Amino acid sequence: MNRILITGALGQLGSALLKHYHDKGIFVLATDIHECPKGLVYNYEKLDALNFEGLLDVVKKYEINVIYHLAAILSAKGEKNPFHSWKINMDTFQNIVDVSLKCKIERVFWPSSIAVFGKDSNLEYVPQNSLMNPTTLYGVSKLAGEKLMNYYFEKYQLDIRSIRFPGIISMDTKPGGGVTDYIIEMLNASKKGNEYICFLDKNQRLPMIFMEDVISAITLLMSKKRSVLSISSSYNIVGFTTTPEECLLAIKSNGINLKVHYKPDFRQKIANTWPENVDDSLASKDWGWSPKFGLDKTVKIALNG
Ligand SMILES: NC(=O)c1ccc[n+]([C@@H]2O[C@H](COP(=O)([O-])OP(=O)(O)OC[C@H]3O[C@@H](n4cnc5c(N)ncnc54)[C@H](O)[C@@H]3O)[C@@H](O)[C@H]2O)c1
Repeated sequence: MNRILITGALGQLGSALLKHYHDKGIFVLATDIHECPKGLVYNYEKLDALNFEGLLDVVKKYEINVIYHLAAILSAKGEKNPFHSWKINMDTFQNIVDVSLKCKIERVFWPSSIAVFGKDSNLEYVPQNSLMNPTTLYGVSKLAGEKLMNYYFEKYQLDIRSIRFPGIISMDTKPGGGVTDYIIEMLNASKKGNEYICFLDKNQRLPMIFMEDVISAITLLMSKKRSVLSISSSYNIVGFTTTPEECLLAIKSNGINLKVHYKPDFRQKIANTWPENVDDSLASKDWGWSPKFGLDKTVKIALNG
């Protein structure tokens, strides 16, 4: 039976993963830099993932054998303080590797991102093994993580698994400061009856994925035998692709007359270097990935949730 540790567990992805494993009756320890939120029903330790000794202690104390390392500074937020973002993203990654090797952790999940790509990546439809020249600090740190996970697998057989996520859509937590956050903000504005000022061009196409598909993908990938995985790097996946204008049309088709103004800011420059779509056929072939949520279904659920 697995005993799971999640870092960055109070964030958008961590909250959903935590609920998923807790509901399944699997032991899961949530950790994050914040004090334990009032009323949290999960096992929780306040822990900075930069604190190596602290990580070692909780792994031993709770007899952890699987780690989901989610603590990170995301794309747009990362650009505001790049040196700090590099430190958080890379030093915590190295800590998790070190602790995993010391404590013989069986499996690690660490998410990468479509931010690893760049203008040289055939952005209309990015293949699994594309040229990767990212422009953001976030993208550079994710690419470094991908290279390192491959290195540690080859050198020490450390089993780290990874997915390059597109923009993740969920309504339960505030988005963490990414370039794809506009879609969540637009859905929230629709629910509150507010107008929305969109920070991307109305025709900017980006890949997205609904949280339920994210959880399915992670649990599926983590359940497979290592031998079926043909790469020791990160897998492309996508739920659907959309633009702010298409998203607005989908919202309007639910009878909501949202007003959107377009004022692209520095995040548009980042989006210009990100994929419109990605080829996720290797994930389908290796571990059976198949998305269940398109734009219309996602918008309907998000508006009614
Ligand atoms: N949300 C997306 O659209 C998306 C897309 C691609 C990849 N990802 C990746 O998924 C992971 C989780 O993303 P998210 O959307 O949940 O982000 P988020 O910003 O919502 O959550 C990150 C969490 O990490 C915590 N954290 C930050 N520094 C920490 C530290 N030093 N020690 C412990 N905790 C710390 C924060 O308090 C926060 O709760 C990240 O690695 C991110 O790069 C997310």
